Amino acid sequence: MTRIVAFTGAGISAESGIPTFRGKGGLWEKFKPEELATPEAFMRNPELVWRWYDERRQMIKKAKPNEGHLILAKIEEEADYFVLITQNVDGLHFEAGNRNVLELHGNIWRVRCLSCGQRYYLYETPLKEIPPRCQFCGGLLRPDVVWFGEMLDPDILDRAFRESELADVFIVVGTSAVVYPAAYLPVVAKEHGAFLIEVNPEETPISEIADVVIREKAGTGMKRVYEILRERGDI
Ligand code: APR
Repeated sequence: MTRIVAFTGAGISAESGIPTFRGKGGLWEKFKPEELATPEAFMRNPELVWRWYDERRQMIKKAKPNEGHLILAKIEEEADYFVLITQNVDGLHFEAGNRNVLELHGNIWRVRCLSCGQRYYLYETPLKEIPPRCQFCGGLLRPDVVWFGEMLDPDILDRAFRESELADVFIVVGTSAVVYPAAYLPVVAKEHGAFLIEVNPEETPISEIADVVIREKAGTGMKRVYEILRERGDI
């Protein structure tokens, strides 16, 4: 049995029209992360942070999974063992059909109440009330995503590391691989003997340790990955 693990970042959703964070046209060119994506920023100005999230939610709602997402769903269908680890919060991997997904940085459609701790999915877009209030207790809600300076869910992170250690093939798609601890995963996989494939139009810190580098966008690049998995007999 071949254990295939895919690890994705914002680049996989770029062809769905969702901007990446870093690089040309990236979100962090227009906005400063510390003004929006930190718990301090949220406590200072929940309305501002929620307006930004409301905009992103509206954009994501219009987006559809692209070829790259769809090929990952096909690989899950055909593989004996497949797990997808994503840094994305847009939920497009689920929409494409992947089921065994670990969302390291949370989900933009989920909210968490700062008063009663309830977590639930809130799909209303645009939001009627900003900041939105908890449907159970009326408390202040926050997006259930991981901000800079926050811990990742330890269970999800543990599982991501375990899967990476056990991977036979590890596919890295569309991540700048500079945000830790997520960026350790490909390194851990490689150290434990995985065959490492990178799909990214740009060079990243992963490029030099990868066994195969595909300098393409996710759609074209994932087609090539699918062929490679076929040729190797992994699927
Ligand atoms: N196909 C594949 N890769 C692409 C494409 C594309 N069409 N377009 C851009 N890329 C690549 C870029 O070259 C870059 O390496 O996607 C990567 C996007 O990098 P980032 O914007 O840094 O996104 P990501 O790696 O997911 O960021 C990690 O940082 O702020 C956060 O929490 C946020 O989860 C995110 C984390």
